[in-house]
Amino acid sequence: MAFRRSGVRAPYPPLDVGGKLLHKLAAHGQQHLLQFWDELDRDGQESLAAQIDRLDLALVDRLFQQGDVGDDVQAILERAGSPPAVRLEDARQPQGKRAAEAARQAGRQALAAGEVAAVIAAGGQGTRLGFRQPKAMFPVGPVSQNTLLQILIEKVLATGRRYGVRVPAAVMTSPATDEPTTRFLAEHNRFGLPEDDLLLFCQGTMPAVDAPTGKVLLAAKDRIALSPDGHGSLLAAIARSGVLDELERRGIRTLYYFQVDNLLVRFGAAEFVGHHRLAGSELTTQVIAKASPLERVGNVVEVDGRLRVIEYSEFKDLPPETAERRAPDGSLVIWAGSIAVHLMEVAFLKRMAARADALPFHRAHKKVPYISDEGRLVEPREPNALKFERFIFDLMPSARNAMVVEIDRRQGFAPLKNAPGEPADTPEQVREQMMAEHRRWLQAAGAEVADGVKVEISPLFALDAEEAAGKIAPGTRVTRDTYFR
Ligand code: UD1
Repeated sequence: MAFRRSGVRAPYPPLDVGGKLLHKLAAHGQQHLLQFWDELDRDGQESLAAQIDRLDLALVDRLFQQGDVGDDVQAILERAGSPPAVRLEDARQPQGKRAAEAARQAGRQALAAGEVAAVIAAGGQGTRLGFRQPKAMFPVGPVSQNTLLQILIEKVLATGRRYGVRVPAAVMTSPATDEPTTRFLAEHNRFGLPEDDLLLFCQGTMPAVDAPTGKVLLAAKDRIALSPDGHGSLLAAIARSGVLDELERRGIRTLYYFQVDNLLVRFGAAEFVGHHRLAGSELTTQVIAKASPLERVGNVVEVDGRLRVIEYSEFKDLPPETAERRAPDGSLVIWAGSIAVHLMEVAFLKRMAARADALPFHRAHKKVPYISDEGRLVEPREPNALKFERFIFDLMPSARNAMVVEIDRRQGFAPLKNAPGEPADTPEQVREQMMAEHRRWLQAAGAEVADGVKVEISPLFALDAEEAAGKIAPGTRVTRDTYFR
């Protein structure tokens, strides 16, 4: 059967499978997905048929046709103000100190009541890192060589031990990371987390489309070019998988969300949880004061009484002054850099998950390899495709009493994004950041750490400087590379 090119009228695949598929595809001008049908063996045909069956082509059509309706970022930024925030400097004032103490107490209560669970977004591959496995499996511990996932799971486990409760960890994988991550966790006995406390669920995907025509791209003759549809996929995936219901059944009220690439994330920080609870917030996000107006992080701002995130990438076509606007006291208005650590109420997520339009799709122009009409694999040099992604932080405008809590970046933000040798966020840099932080804990405990010595503290040894101080005798001398565990 000759059905080679899109738009060519030709005999179609056998009616039993192909005919049904063709009907679905033709309604959206996507028949070209079957152009290599004849060349596929039975497995290839079945696999392609299953992929086509799962496509929501009406959605793809709509997203392509609506174009870049995106908001006018310039206009939004002109209206944007600083978000309601608990700033670090507040804790230096007597009133701020009292508020911080009240928050710590409320947070400890919530944690000790077992009302807080971890949610880890681990859908990312190590592509940007030059690592051919899930990013979660990158060996990052400066002395231990432990992987990101182990270090993060140990933080969850240690938090549970501290409060004498079981803290569940819900881990979101993607189709690309699901099997290796699941196997890796099983091989390592979930790093000590009881089986019932690990809840794995897989996020969804969206097809990439050819940017000028909207045609869905083929990554191989029997495979559609699918990619994870952003961490906003979490909302639908955690609800659909039953994990949200399971957490609710276990008495969890607040999800402590973070991304698998932040080595220094402060999981279980009582003060953060307490501020969230005492403010009656449905979504509270941890931020850092940006090092420069154009730092490559999301910006949390308030627009028309609602919080939202404007990505650093959205500044790129704007005049630099837009990001540098200052308040009368000289401080930056757009100061709050998102580190992608959010507290979200289960009840809020349930409400949002019931709404199909709770999160908008963003369009990203990317380079996506594809199979040409001639059946060749093309590796484009320029962006050729559109990808559609949703972001979890777009829930902010819908949340009641949303706010931000500032932390010191040295204590909670070391994102691993780029390959060795790149200017920022590389393995060497995050290891240095972790060692510097742990060195400060040891020094605060009265230990002496010789210059050039590598130190790493397992979360199971200490989760913070206070805990370390309770375990390290003043005067301890650390003279060689040490992993405290
Ligand atoms: C992200 C945030 C940015 C924030 C920064 C902090 C977005 C769009 N931007 O930037 O506001 O300042 O982190 O480090 O998120 N992930 C999934 N599934 C997906 C996509 C991502 O699980 O479909 C996870 C990945 O495991 C990854 C993490 O989310 O580790 C971050 O995603 P990435 O695309 O690297 O975002 P950034 O551009 O680094």
